[in-house]
Amino acid sequence: MQKNKKLYIETYGCQMNFSDSEIVASIMAESNFTITEYSKEVDVILINTCSIRDNAEQRVWKRLRELKSLKKKQPNLQIGIIGCMAERFKEAMLEMQPEVDFIAGPDAYRSLPELITASVAGQQSANVMLSEEETYDDIQPVRLHSNGVSAFISIMRGCENFCAYCVVPFTRGKERSRNPQTIVQEAVELFKNGYREITLLGQNVNSYNWKNNDGTVIHFPQLISMIAAIDHQLRVRFTTSHPKDLSNNLIQAIVQHQNICSAIHLAVQSGSNRILEKMNRKYTREYFLERIQAIRTAIPECAITTDIIAGFCDETEQDHQDTLNLMREVRFDSAFMFKYSERSGTIAAQKFDDNVPEEVKSRRLKEIIALQQELSLQSNKNDIGKVVEVLIEGNARKSAEQLMGRDSRNKVVVFESKELEKGDYADVRIVRCTSATLIGQVFA
Ligand code: 5AD
Ligand code: SF4
Repeated sequence: MQKNKKLYIETYGCQMNFSDSEIVASIMAESNFTITEYSKEVDVILINTCSIRDNAEQRVWKRLRELKSLKKKQPNLQIGIIGCMAERFKEAMLEMQPEVDFIAGPDAYRSLPELITASVAGQQSANVMLSEEETYDDIQPVRLHSNGVSAFISIMRGCENFCAYCVVPFTRGKERSRNPQTIVQEAVELFKNGYREITLLGQNVNSYNWKNNDGTVIHFPQLISMIAAIDHQLRVRFTTSHPKDLSNNLIQAIVQHQNICSAIHLAVQSGSNRILEKMNRKYTREYFLERIQAIRTAIPECAITTDIIAGFCDETEQDHQDTLNLMREVRFDSAFMFKYSERSGTIAAQKFDDNVPEEVKSRRLKEIIALQQELSLQSNKNDIGKVVEVLIEGNARKSAEQLMGRDSRNKVVVFESKELEKGDYADVRIVRCTSATLIGQVFA
């Protein structure tokens, strides 16, 4: 076993990857590694990679070119590639000499200490086996870059939806749910340590499904209710939901628990039925709108956010207009918006032509972003005069005089206070806004 080596972890991609890095940090700490920031003294660098879009992968390839020159200067440094790109490019990665010493896929993190031992002994090593069981449920993540107030808990891994554009089912494997007892335990510990907000994470949390030994099953609405029952001062969020699985029971759980946040991220991807079918999303525009209606009826104040892809295979101008008018109809509070980027191995890459010209994709994306900007600004303007409950996360980035936090809808709120601090709740009256931020005053 290696003694007191210094480890630096660099993470790319989604919240799930950041959560995985915290699991990796815990596994490595158990093996006597000290997790540090980057410095010349580090012994091991882990790059936790993302494959979701081409630009995510390009960033990592660029980083590897930089690491190649670093490795030439520091031959004893061990560099490991972990996560989705390790899974997708095993052979190519192992050919990258001298900068790649070992690789581990998303289900192989427990073997990292052994992989490093082998690599120190001069053997290039790899484990990219996907598992049908691994959930890392017994591992207490080490919180990296934490604000001490909000934390992520992974409740499931993998995805089996096979949306035509998406690489995740290939890099992260089968869907599996984590033992609920260990999730509750982790949440209780976080609350004891001063955390006040937990985000339950999974590729599709609404299909969470755990079978007890007696044959009974725990679904997501029950799981989230168990977490909410820990303490009313603990806020609970979740992401991400697939529209096809957003149940009325979940909507009811949000209604029943004041501390389950009024924020639902519901990725629509496109407003055109023709494109939704081609994407293999398994719902229609009408079904999506019905789910929005169900949310708005039960939880009128609920924030609804989304993901949208511009320029998927065969997308016509009419399909694009359908997306824009769906956005206007729903009035999303905010959105992540992307240009379609073909990923090798996916259903779309195998079956369809990536035939929307780059400049058309860019123009459509620009129109989608401009519209969302307007909708976000309007949504924020509607809040002026309202009083919202903010959980304080720390100082605002732009001014040390100001505090920053989020309301239940996950909207960022900035305000001044000399008495309140991180981890406190504050009632704040909104007085101004931009499209991204609400600015307010403490409401006495
Ligand atoms: N191209 C563009 N965007 C993609 N996403 C997933 N795969 C692709 C792709 N190949 C987007 C989807 C998903 C989000 C996480 O990333 O909108 O919801
Ligand atoms: Fe990808 Fe679809 Fe699974 Fe989300 S639900 S991870 S978009 S395959």
